[in-house]
Amino acid sequence: MEGEIGLIAELRAELGADAVLTDEADLAGFVEDFRGRYKGRALCVVHPSSTEQVAFVVRRCAAQRIPVLPQGGNTSLCGGAVPRTTGPAPVIVSLSRMRRIRVVDAANRSIEVEAGCILKTVQDEAAVLNCLYPVSLGGEGSCQIGGTISTNAGGTSVLRYGNTRDNVLGLEVVLADGSIWNGLRGLRKDNTGIDLKQVFIGAEGTLGIITAATLKLHPLPTHHALAWFAPANPEAALRVFEMFQANCGSRLCAYELMNERQLQLVVERVPERRNPLADPHAWHVLVELSDTRDGAGMEDILQRTLEEAAEANLIQDAIIAMSDTQRANLWEVRHSVTEANKGAGVGLTTDCSVPISAVPAFIDGATHAVRQIVPGLDIVIVGHMGDGNIHFIPMFSFPAWQALVDARSMAEALRRAVNDVAHRLGGSFSAEHGIGQTGLAEMAHYKSPVELATMRAIKQALDPENIMNPGRLIP
Ligand code: FAD
Ligand code: LAC
Ligand code: ZN
Repeated sequence: MEGEIGLIAELRAELGADAVLTDEADLAGFVEDFRGRYKGRALCVVHPSSTEQVAFVVRRCAAQRIPVLPQGGNTSLCGGAVPRTTGPAPVIVSLSRMRRIRVVDAANRSIEVEAGCILKTVQDEAAVLNCLYPVSLGGEGSCQIGGTISTNAGGTSVLRYGNTRDNVLGLEVVLADGSIWNGLRGLRKDNTGIDLKQVFIGAEGTLGIITAATLKLHPLPTHHALAWFAPANPEAALRVFEMFQANCGSRLCAYELMNERQLQLVVERVPERRNPLADPHAWHVLVELSDTRDGAGMEDILQRTLEEAAEANLIQDAIIAMSDTQRANLWEVRHSVTEANKGAGVGLTTDCSVPISAVPAFIDGATHAVRQIVPGLDIVIVGHMGDGNIHFIPMFSFPAWQALVDARSMAEALRRAVNDVAHRLGGSFSAEHGIGQTGLAEMAHYKSPVELATMRAIKQALDPENIMNPGRLIP
């Protein structure tokens, strides 16, 4: 049978009728992002339960040149998992039924999981083994391992454990012709030619569908010490960061910055969140130390470093979490930013990274650049200062946004202004969220012709018919 109707019948016969959705109401949650900013069209959504079923879907789509869009938890902040409005409507391949933990190897400190496993589930499984899967982010209760690998997600522990790329040992991938590459090696060392898995990490579904991964586990920290403090300004936050690095070495595991406006939005918009400090302050930092064996003296070092910083007039107030509950509450404040910002207006989320030493200059430069375009515009700032990644968010109220004559051009101009500042400082316009739809024009603008041509050559070699998530990643 040829044609779209024939394809759907074939998919139903192979996967089961309940695994192939075509009704508009059933597709709704898959064709739109959670902030309601992007909406596209899909031929259907399929829910394969095995790698072989994924391969079948891709083979049948390839035969008819129907595009394929892999989808994880659809938590992308840049419209990455939402289909296009132009071109043939794709088959969305949801990995959500592929959520088995396949192999646990405690001695090797590795775990093999299917791509549809929720990130939080993998963290919990690792903890049962007294291990840590360190990738951690606000969307961890919904995003999937396959999605985090395909976007090379970062999060709040990159300064200590690296991003997702640093924590993947092996992959299983269904390629664009429907063949299956089994690269599920649990090896720390393997110099047998080009490291193919790296090509798929961060490829956002444009080269193949990740169906499983072997992940690296770390010793589970048993002791934590966390503080929330108000640095005088970003420059002071940087100086205090250096003090923590000097005093705490590898125990330093998180250093997260936000501005007053960001904290206000969390407190106003998310139930049960409050300012951890007694008074308002212009800047806030959450700092955490952890140790896997010995917590002795950790709170003392935290306290001493904060006192040292206060004596140098770098910080205005600080609290140290006195219990696990208090620690969890402070993390909740940090992890609530996306929920708070979603309802607060139209926030033009950016995702720049610069050398850590350049974070204050980036914040200053971006503030100046944005206010030159829209004087007095609300600016929300939150980020992973300890790895140089700042989300600088020009924020419009809904009425102000609706009143704009050309909102799209305004969004592009503001994002470009922010990204230009990062670029001048040797930074990147996409540190951890990926390219999705928001970043396509920036790819064309900032990447060199040689870099783009090399990416195109890889795409052409692995997906000559341009079946996999076409029109994405490489402009
Ligand atoms: P999706 O959004 O479904 O997909 C993202 C991209 O990956 C798409 O291009 C899709 O086609 C592709 N893809 C998905 N699964 C596969 C697969 N199996 N094979 C091939 N391609 C696939 N991100 C950060 O990096 N750091 C943060 O701190 C952070 N915080 C967040 C907080 C909140 C509250 C939310 C909602 C999101 C946050 N994000 C953050 C963004 C997002 O959670 C991550 O980018 C996450 O990695 C996306 O996973 P997902 O499963 O939802 O992928
Ligand atoms: C965070 C998301 C926005 O850092 O990446 O919370
Ligand atoms: Zn982030």
